[in-house]
Amino acid sequence: MKLIRVENYEEMSSSAAQLVEQQILNNSHSVLGLATGSTPLGLYEQLIRGVSERNISWQHVQTLNLDEYCGLAEDHPNSYRHFMNAKLFRHIDIPLENTHIPNGKALPVEVECRRYEALIDEIGPPHLQILGMGTNGHIGFNEPGTPETSLTHCVQLETSTRNSNARFFSDRDEVPTHAITMGIQSILKSERILVLASGKKKAQAVKHFLDGRVSKDFPASFLWNHNHVTLIVDQDAYSLAA
Ligand code: F6R
Repeated sequence: MKLIRVENYEEMSSSAAQLVEQQILNNSHSVLGLATGSTPLGLYEQLIRGVSERNISWQHVQTLNLDEYCGLAEDHPNSYRHFMNAKLFRHIDIPLENTHIPNGKALPVEVECRRYEALIDEIGPPHLQILGMGTNGHIGFNEPGTPETSLTHCVQLETSTRNSNARFFSDRDEVPTHAITMGIQSILKSERILVLASGKKKAQAVKHFLDGRVSKDFPASFLWNHNHVTLIVDQDAYSLAA
């Protein structure tokens, strides 16, 4: 595991953007694994700037997102499809048909999970997968207890995850109870993985992760079983590990 320590959120974002842009410059047909949440927002802002300021072209890039809420239509303001369109895709020159996110409305959900895993194998796996980390160590929506062998599947969200994501909804009861997520095994298929962590609220999780003990109680720890993981962490997130 490669550890890159930076000062703050801005530096984490620009350092991550450099790695993503280098991947696209090396291979214009790159497949990128993307995440939602607060952590990658600064990275996405940098990548949007990269199109005009650094001539980065996303014309032939394909993207695979980690997860999507069950039951939310693509145009629902809290769907991850809506988030990705608003925060990144609409502002870069990627054809929308090159962007892939599980369909939260598809039924039966098991069929959608199998379709998405087959898609990962068909167009991917990602050359580079971006990950944020939950305070309980979740990656994607893989909560503690998820086995390392898991592929794309439907999960019941933990109360702590629903509470933490309630900030995006007008009412906590509106937070969906289930989501489709790439499994741990699906994530580990990626050639390289880039984990981002910023802020004091991630300090305990970063400390736990850097302990290096692999256990399903802390899903991010399975990343230690992958050969090409980079963690970019800012001072606050690193503060308990130091
Ligand atoms: C997002 C995702 C989640 C987040 C994690 C951290 O697609 O799958 O695992 O990466 O919950 O969220 P933030 O970045 O909001 O702290």
